[in-house]
Amino acid sequence: MARGIHDVWVALGEPSCFDVVEMGAGTGIMANHIIDRLRLSYPELAQALQYQIVEVSEAMIKKQQHTTGDRGIVWHQASAEDVALSGMMGVVISNELPDTFPVHRIKRIGGEIIEVGVGIDRANKRLVEVDMKLDPELYNPFYLSVLDTVPEGVVVNASPTLRHWQHNVARMLDAGSVITIDYGFSSVDPASAQRQFAPRLYQSGRQMRGDILEYLPGEYDITTSVDFNALREAGNEVGLSTILCETQPNLLRRLGIIQESELIRATRWWNPFKEYLGRTALFSSHLHDINTLISPQYDGFLGLVQTKTALYQVSPQSNITHFTGTD
Ligand SMILES: C[S@@+](CC[C@H](N)C(=O)[O-])C[C@H]1O[C@@H](n2cnc3c(N)ncnc32)[C@H](O)[C@@H]1O
Repeated sequence: MARGIHDVWVALGEPSCFDVVEMGAGTGIMANHIIDRLRLSYPELAQALQYQIVEVSEAMIKKQQHTTGDRGIVWHQASAEDVALSGMMGVVISNELPDTFPVHRIKRIGGEIIEVGVGIDRANKRLVEVDMKLDPELYNPFYLSVLDTVPEGVVVNASPTLRHWQHNVARMLDAGSVITIDYGFSSVDPASAQRQFAPRLYQSGRQMRGDILEYLPGEYDITTSVDFNALREAGNEVGLSTILCETQPNLLRRLGIIQESELIRATRWWNPFKEYLGRTALFSSHLHDINTLISPQYDGFLGLVQTKTALYQVSPQSNITHFTGTD
């Protein structure tokens, strides 16, 4: 990620003030790694860096502040889709953020579009799916068009939040890129749409099976796979052009993760890297982490790179960004 951020900084003409805005930062560990890596390998960029975190949860902000210590991060406690930042030049990054956004569940039956809600079957004391009137916000071709591509009765997700988020990111960014990584799919497959849009239920990181309504509300983390096609379309509406949408392993390869692991190996015993990675014993765990992140088990994760200025194109070799203009 640090290499990708550096690419964008160079493409933008090495500005003396450069924003990296991480949205939904979890424990803050990625922020640590990015900042330390920039300080070590790209000190001029580190000088220009304004690392900011947009985080909705006060508890997570406390955790992030504890993890990141005195790395000079600025926090904004706000929701990514409506945080009031502006005039940014740099990169907006997120890992596993849009899967947390709420979705409406909609389907088409006999020409009518219905929203699927949750009700109570009092006789049997259980939660059940109920048909509802469509939320007025969804009367928009953007949300309904995916229904034309799937068989009648298949429930698909529509997320106004996903769209608001893209619009907000485009508004806040004067120039630069948006890098989004999450689990999801890049196009809707009519034959497997039911599965693609199915709710996902987790407990302590473990995916649970079965009917979601059988589980008690509040006890589980409910999420969905991200519809990257919808994400890209929402970005296109407001001038965020997609320059790359690939599996996580491929994105990380393009960003230079292989060179990174070679560097770690080469500097195993002599290294300024020690400062960045901590104790030598950590080397093998970093190499192991890198191998995991680019293994096929992460093919279900996608990485999307968008740009505000349309000044970049994907190089066929490895870099994600290349200047193609001078505007
Ligand atoms: C699944 S975690 C991802 C954590 C982290 N990026 C990582 O890779 O480990 C989602 C994070 O996004 C935050 N979050 C959820 N919804 C958000 C929103 N609408 N705006 C900003 N942050 C949000 C959560 O509090 C949490 O820190």
